[in-house]
Amino acid sequence: MNFKNNAIALITGAGGREELEELRVKYLGRKGEINRMLAEIPKMAAEEKTGAGEAINDLKRVIEEAISAKGGEILSVGDSGWTDLTAPGIDPGLGNVHPVTKAVDEITGIFEKIGFTRVRYPTVDWDWYPFGAVNMEHDHPARDEFETFFVDAPAHPKLGKMVLTPHTSNGQVREMERVGSPPIRMLNIAPCFRRQQDVTHLVSFIQFEGLVVDKGISIAHLKGVIDYFAGEFYGPGAKSRLRPFHFQFTEPSLEVDFSCPNCKGTGKIIGGDRCRFCKSGWHEVGGAGMVHPAVLRNGGIDPEKYTGFAFGWGVERTYAMKPGVKIDDIRLLNSTDLRVLKQ
Ligand code: PHE
Repeated sequence: MNFKNNAIALITGAGGREELEELRVKYLGRKGEINRMLAEIPKMAAEEKTGAGEAINDLKRVIEEAISAKGGEILSVGDSGWTDLTAPGIDPGLGNVHPVTKAVDEITGIFEKIGFTRVRYPTVDWDWYPFGAVNMEHDHPARDEFETFFVDAPAHPKLGKMVLTPHTSNGQVREMERVGSPPIRMLNIAPCFRRQQDVTHLVSFIQFEGLVVDKGISIAHLKGVIDYFAGEFYGPGAKSRLRPFHFQFTEPSLEVDFSCPNCKGTGKIIGGDRCRFCKSGWHEVGGAGMVHPAVLRNGGIDPEKYTGFAFGWGVERTYAMKPGVKIDDIRLLNSTDLRVLKQ
């Protein structure tokens, strides 16, 4: 088969857009066959030149026409009722699970492995559960920290006004009421709301709260669970640090830091520069402590017989520290920016 017939046979037999484009490049591209032939012309004897130029231009026109005809045929496949089943499909652009949802699933799995039960409690709740029940009766100054949204609705005669829960600790006494008597191993993950917003705080964020109540529970169990979580979520070698703090619902109260996965807790990166992600090698994730006896009593549990620990941390912040996650402003997690959502 001569050159021209061979080219036309290949073009008319092209299986789809991509194959046709490959042929276009092969024949008409900058380094294609036609240009290669044209480049030969100067080397030819004078009498050959004119004829060769004409023949090549002719060939070029025939190939262009064949490609354009084939291109039209491929495009109008639907109209003509002819379908090339071997042609590559159009990528439907599948979505993916939101990074925060993925983090919630992972956190749930980690705690379920050691016997915690995932529960859900109202995110619009009566004042009593997020406040009174956890030892912050009306007008208590500790309430200031929980910059609360109140719902404009009639108050409950005993449980008070309706609020958007500012923390998942509203689940503590609700869980004690549900279970009745210990053991309790609760994991409450829910949206929380506070009147605050900056690079490390969101108006609406998700907290996960652990509550363990049983005979003989000590702060050593709390530390053990926290270290287990750090190792599972951030990888082996992740460490935790507990600092004294104050909450009305725990005694003693602690703040929990995790070692920075970027600089492995050293505060420095290779070359001695300061780590960009943390100031000191540590990230604060949230609060924890031993359940206050008044809270156990509010849940109908005898604090002389039982003790417990609780912790409550933000999912977004915990997730933003994960190795490989590149988020330096957690407000991005509530945006529609696909570069963030595809992480
Ligand atoms: N509820 C506290 C907060 O939102 C965190 C916390 C939970 C602290 C449980 C101690 C025990 O800040």
